[in-house]
Amino acid sequence: MFRMNLYKEFDFKVDRALGVNIYDTQGNRYLDTFSGIGVLALGHSHEEVLKAQQLQMKRFEHISNFFIQDDAEEIAKILVIKTGRTGQVFFTNSGTEAVEAALKAVKKKSQESGRKKIMTFSNAFHGRTLGSLSLNGFERMRKPFEPLLDNVVRIPFNNLEKFQEAIDKHINETVALFLEPIQGSGGVVKLDQASADMIKNTLGKYDVLLVCDEIQAGLGRTGKFYAYQHLGIHPDIITLGKAIGGGLPLGATVFLNGTETIFQQGDHGSTFAPNPISIAGGKVVVKKISEIMDTIEEKGAYFVSNIKQTEKIQEIRQTGLMIGITLTEPDPKLRVKAQEKGLLINVLNNRIIRLLPALNIEYSEMDEMIGILNELLS
Ligand SMILES: Cc1ncc(COP(=O)(O)O)c(C=O)c1O
Repeated sequence: MFRMNLYKEFDFKVDRALGVNIYDTQGNRYLDTFSGIGVLALGHSHEEVLKAQQLQMKRFEHISNFFIQDDAEEIAKILVIKTGRTGQVFFTNSGTEAVEAALKAVKKKSQESGRKKIMTFSNAFHGRTLGSLSLNGFERMRKPFEPLLDNVVRIPFNNLEKFQEAIDKHINETVALFLEPIQGSGGVVKLDQASADMIKNTLGKYDVLLVCDEIQAGLGRTGKFYAYQHLGIHPDIITLGKAIGGGLPLGATVFLNGTETIFQQGDHGSTFAPNPISIAGGKVVVKKISEIMDTIEEKGAYFVSNIKQTEKIQEIRQTGLMIGITLTEPDPKLRVKAQEKGLLINVLNNRIIRLLPALNIEYSEMDEMIGILNELLS
């Protein structure tokens, strides 16, 4: 094999995909709960997304940041307006690049203030490039690449006592806190309200920037446009990726509350971003998500309320259509068993089933998925 295989690949070849369905080259149909790792908010090959992308492809495929793109301006406006604040957006090609842009801005701010420390939480996934990896809360991912950025203060997630300790010790030297409000790769775990209140009551007072990583949980996934909106906190910077490009590579860093003036011309850039075709599809996604927002929490609640509680299930966590099912015992065969029944599931560490289905999934499609999961977990 000439391809580097760094993922646990499935043993079939995909022929085509539509909605929540993936069809293999043998003609088998699978129900997809991966959605391209949380990318396809409107499912595979959504007609309006495809149409917008095709039309754009015929106009121009790439022009670079030297030229104005009206559609990019339109998405940026929506991303800012949804925060209720003022700000500006820098587009990237991926999630990790959106985090890198945020990190660079934070580093620049740090030079002005002399505050060098950045706080992050355990089990937060911020990306794999060296900057975002430095903030990543998974030691096993960081370790092989150390030394990474220093001055990172690591705090156990949802541990108020340790959070208070870190604040007491480091807050005066801290420039920013990076937060994934609902941890995706960490197993679909929401920040608890006590920690959120601590953030709300402390950060602003000490002039510490709050950066919310909404790459997985943002853009309607949890039933609100931004996941932080469940918690009553207000970020200064938001990072976005995954769903925003309508299936094509796109990320965004939303700079709010004055942080939009940190970068001056020449401070940051990208050859490709924002790709006009990604932007064309993304415009459809961002608008459609707003239209179906009211249905998302209801669908998520329906999904989990129909999963039969058995001794194989330790806990189910759900916000909107971001669902995590923790098994009582790890089951290394569960993914294959699900595949044999026509269901594609991501099982983190053989223990947590993470479901990120398309946000426009039909109830009948959920019923099919629920039926298979209930069989598997009975
Ligand atoms: C919360 C979060 N941040 C950052 C990233 C990195 O995004 P990308 O893989 O597009 O670089 C991911 C990817 O899974 C993510 O879930």
